[in-house]
Amino acid sequence: MAANGMGTFAGKVAFVTGGASGIGRAAALAFAREGASVVVADVSEQGNQETLRLVEGLGGRALAVLCDVTNAAEVKAALTKTVEAFGRLDFAFNNAGIEPRKAVPTADYDEEEWNRIIDINLRGVFLCMKHEIPLILKQGGGAIVNTSSGAGIIGIKGSPAYTAAKHGVIGLTKAAALDYAAQNLRINAVCPGYIETPMMHRFTGGTPEGRAKVIGEEPIGRMGKPEEIAAAVVWLCSAAATFMVGHAMVIDGGQTIQ
Ligand code: NAI
Repeated sequence: MAANGMGTFAGKVAFVTGGASGIGRAAALAFAREGASVVVADVSEQGNQETLRLVEGLGGRALAVLCDVTNAAEVKAALTKTVEAFGRLDFAFNNAGIEPRKAVPTADYDEEEWNRIIDINLRGVFLCMKHEIPLILKQGGGAIVNTSSGAGIIGIKGSPAYTAAKHGVIGLTKAAALDYAAQNLRINAVCPGYIETPMMHRFTGGTPEGRAKVIGEEPIGRMGKPEEIAAAVVWLCSAAATFMVGHAMVIDGGQTIQ
């Protein structure tokens, strides 16, 4: 492990969406610890700058780019800046996502809220892959990891859009994985359980009761840490995972096996 260019990802470049917070920030740091240069792409300028500062604090190289994953021009521009800054693209972690505002049964679900969630959580992953894939292929291959969820494995009551988007990310991951498996580009997904991040803080309201409720759904008896997802993402990109293709890796303390 080293952020000084001496790790297993020395000379490699990783692009992380949603890298300004939570799981994305932990992944940016994990890539940097392995020696990769990291591009943090997020709509939060303040969060971007904080992740940049943290990566540089490890002695790593990073670039922060303001980028809305639903905007194709912004995605393209962010990737162009990546190649301008670091010369190549090896890994992408398509992780930017949002949670629903509240639980609402399907027939009452607001169409605008449906569109907002599908747009960021599913179409955003497609747009990122669309523009990342040619760059990764250009330099001979690499790996992409997309963020799904436990909601990509099981249905979540009152959450039709989030559940559909996260199931969709797994389908999209499998289809794209088949498209590029023979070209040394491996595409996989991660399905986190309840992870202690700003998103989860909003979801639980940050109250002891809210936290106890989600912890009660975790057989392991606690929430996961962003670093526990980041470790899987780095592993999926590493030489240890060269036969992993189109897999949706569940990292959830047992939440979805009950
Ligand atoms: P978070 O809210 O802490 O971080 C998400 C980041 O995505 C934020 O920095 C936000 O600014 C960024 N973002 C939102 N919309 C964006 C857009 N249009 N373009 C670019 N960036 C955008 O959330 P967290 O918990 O780190 O979640 C990361 C991913 O993990 C999400 O896809 C989420 O759905 C998924 N996930 C999270 C779980 C959890 O328990 N925290 C569980 C399962 C999945």
